[in-house]
Amino acid sequence: MEYHPQHGRPEIEPTPPPAGTVLCRFDELRDPGGREFTFGTPPYTFDMFVVRKGASVFGYINDCPHNRAPLNWQADQFLDYTRQHIQCATHGAQFRIEDGSCLWGPCKGDALTPVPVTVREGVVIVA
Ligand code: FES
Repeated sequence: MEYHPQHGRPEIEPTPPPAGTVLCRFDELRDPGGREFTFGTPPYTFDMFVVRKGASVFGYINDCPHNRAPLNWQADQFLDYTRQHIQCATHGAQFRIEDGSCLWGPCKGDALTPVPVTVREGVVIVA
């Protein structure tokens, strides 16, 4: 098995949760604000987060395209201090909430990997 040279995790694609998996209630999310979710058993976990902005919610794999590090150092903290962008805690890259594209930082022009999510009857689920 191959291991990533920087974070040491196995070089395998983790399995995303199936469509319809319940994540949380929409009204539990701060606006704007985020929440992280982990599926599976270490080291083969699928780590994702959602960010609410107004009436919309967006999902991404918790894996910075710069260095493949998790974006947050603290639980559920994915936004910059203005709460206008997703921010990586490691080197400060900032990403557009709506599409995950990197607007500033060492991976400018790259993007977060989306995880399709939707809201059904007030509950955020994997789409
Ligand atoms: S690991 Fe995210 S900006 Fe470097």
